[in-house]
Amino acid sequence: MNRLSSPQELEALRESIVRNRDTSRRCLTICGGTGCLALGAEDLIAAFRSEVESRGLNSGVDIRVTGCPGFCERGPLVVIEPENILYQRVRPKDVAEIVSETIVSGKIIDRLLYVDPNTGQQAVHESEVPFYKKQLRLLLADNSRIDPNNVNDYIALGGYSALVKAIFKMSPVEVLEEVRKANLRGRGGGGFATARKWQTTRDAEGEPKYVICNCDEGDPGAFMDRSLMEGNPHSAIEGMLIGAYAIGSNEGFIYVRNEYPLAVLHAGTAIRQAEECGLLGDNIFGSGFSCRISINRGGGAFVCGESTALMASLEGKVGEPRAKYIHTSEKGLWEKPTNLNNVETWANVPLIINKGADWYRQIGTENSKGTKIFSLVGKVNNTGLVEVPMGMTLREIVMDIGGGVPKGKKLKAIQTGGPSGGCIPESMLGIPVDFDELDKVGSMMGSGGMIVMDETNCMVDIARYFISFLEGESCGKCVPCREGLKRMREILTGITEGRGEEEDIERLEHLSETLTDSALCGLGQTAPNPVLTSIRYFRDEYQAHIRDKRCPAGVCKALITYSISDKCPGCGLCIKTCPQGAITLVEKKKPVLLDQEKCIKCGACYDVCRLDSVIVK
Ligand SMILES: Cc1cc2nc3c(=O)[nH]c(=O)nc-3n(C[C@H](O)[C@H](O)[C@H](O)COP(=O)(O)O)c2cc1C
Ligand code: SF4
Ligand code: SF4
Ligand code: FES
Repeated sequence: MNRLSSPQELEALRESIVRNRDTSRRCLTICGGTGCLALGAEDLIAAFRSEVESRGLNSGVDIRVTGCPGFCERGPLVVIEPENILYQRVRPKDVAEIVSETIVSGKIIDRLLYVDPNTGQQAVHESEVPFYKKQLRLLLADNSRIDPNNVNDYIALGGYSALVKAIFKMSPVEVLEEVRKANLRGRGGGGFATARKWQTTRDAEGEPKYVICNCDEGDPGAFMDRSLMEGNPHSAIEGMLIGAYAIGSNEGFIYVRNEYPLAVLHAGTAIRQAEECGLLGDNIFGSGFSCRISINRGGGAFVCGESTALMASLEGKVGEPRAKYIHTSEKGLWEKPTNLNNVETWANVPLIINKGADWYRQIGTENSKGTKIFSLVGKVNNTGLVEVPMGMTLREIVMDIGGGVPKGKKLKAIQTGGPSGGCIPESMLGIPVDFDELDKVGSMMGSGGMIVMDETNCMVDIARYFISFLEGESCGKCVPCREGLKRMREILTGITEGRGEEEDIERLEHLSETLTDSALCGLGQTAPNPVLTSIRYFRDEYQAHIRDKRCPAGVCKALITYSISDKCPGCGLCIKTCPQGAITLVEKKKPVLLDQEKCIKCGACYDVCRLDSVIVK
């Protein structure tokens, strides 16, 4: 790779990459994101490579392995360009047919197309899939156009032009002003004004100054940051370089969760390639601006995502938070001014510099600009990554993009904001999703986790689950969090096991208040959210558990029984499934018999019965 020494050389390289790429050429774009790899994408990629080679098609067909385009539910995904044909759930056994039919003969293979389960409509092109139609993918769309291990792909799409614009056409103050005007708010949880943080670090005394990219992402079920880092690492690196220039920093770190090996690998390759091209390092393009970026692999604890804990961990100490009497933007890493931003926040920066704050401000709501990537998971038909303009309603995200709840079940609640977010009931699906609206209903944006729950989820059990998770992740440094979470988990467990007392709700509220007011860091301070919102919106469920010793959703084992209804035709499906031998056939075509003594309430019979003959109460 040749070292570029001027903006003109970067532009010339871009032009030559684009010129040498024949856009009418066939390109097989295969998702190599973690989700698709888990579904066997590695074998699929190998099968495509060998098929294309054995047919002597190498000179006419490109194969591009990309990061995650979001529709993980249907992976492994293959998109054939230039037609933009989308094949989903592709297996190695489909490869020969795809090459001979679609690549060679131009025929569509119906079996591999996406069919909308709600309308039965087939979608040939990626753009016709309802999951994508309502999204505004400013950040994610490039994931499917870029091989993250090839910097040329990023450059071809205009990559690093924002950096050039910033360092050659704008002063650091002008860059900062543009980000301020865009009203960019941090995507890592709190929604802090990015420019304000940059400004504080810029103004703080002390040298050197550092920039950090937070790619820790410890929230269960969330994978936005991982997918951006895996799929388009240069966008975060370019954002960091622009930020470093504005702040007056020459050194950056990407703190990435060690459990994200692909993100670690791709970020490392991207840094190396950017250095080789002269896009990163000393005296970038002779501008006088130098910046080095290195990777630090995270300690593997949820709390390490918290800014002070992250910096301690980066320094090689135990990843424990400290009191923020002095902000990290003034005294952070090694006591030096340090600006920490989330991956998605950094990835927004090149867009703002290239297209301008005025353009950016048109997207989103009054106080939440731009788009937000959500990781939509749980009881929803289309799980995956969804990028939408701020302000889209929860209903549009879950029902239109997510395709609603599977198996005709009723939607009950949506948990936003990760483990310390809140549960929003179905009746509030109309709220526009932005930082402030989610706050108003007792939840939060967090880093973008969105967990959909249906009528078979018990809200008390959900609150118990999140509190147990946070209890396990608490660093234990301060008493309210260490002891408070333990006590809350004990109370919630008691309620789900039928030992709930009338005063428990009040106790939970009281403990929540104490924790919010006195915990040292955001983990403890926000931990009560799932408890408080589930009490606020689902109090009757708590009362059913406490007063009636009943779990209305049929989840809490101690409070439910399984029985067989009169309409059971004795098909015996449940008999084969029951691990305890608790079900027996009494007489042909008559309801089966369930022995309560033997039943361990595993629910297998309920799941397998096709005629709704297993009753759970
Ligand atoms: C317990 C805890 C865990 C956190 N985990 C993350 C994380 O994984 N990724 C992240 O970007 N921010 C996380 N944050 C928020 C960060 O502390 C910090 O506010 C954020 O990275 C700042 O970036 P932003 O301004 O771009 O949002 C966490 C906060 C707390 C309290
Ligand atoms: S609030 Fe919890 S996680 Fe945060 S410092 Fe205190 S004990 Fe540790
Ligand atoms: S709930 Fe489980 S153990 Fe009980 S009868 Fe059904 S399958 Fe058997
Ligand atoms: S990992 Fe392949 S679509 Fe998400």
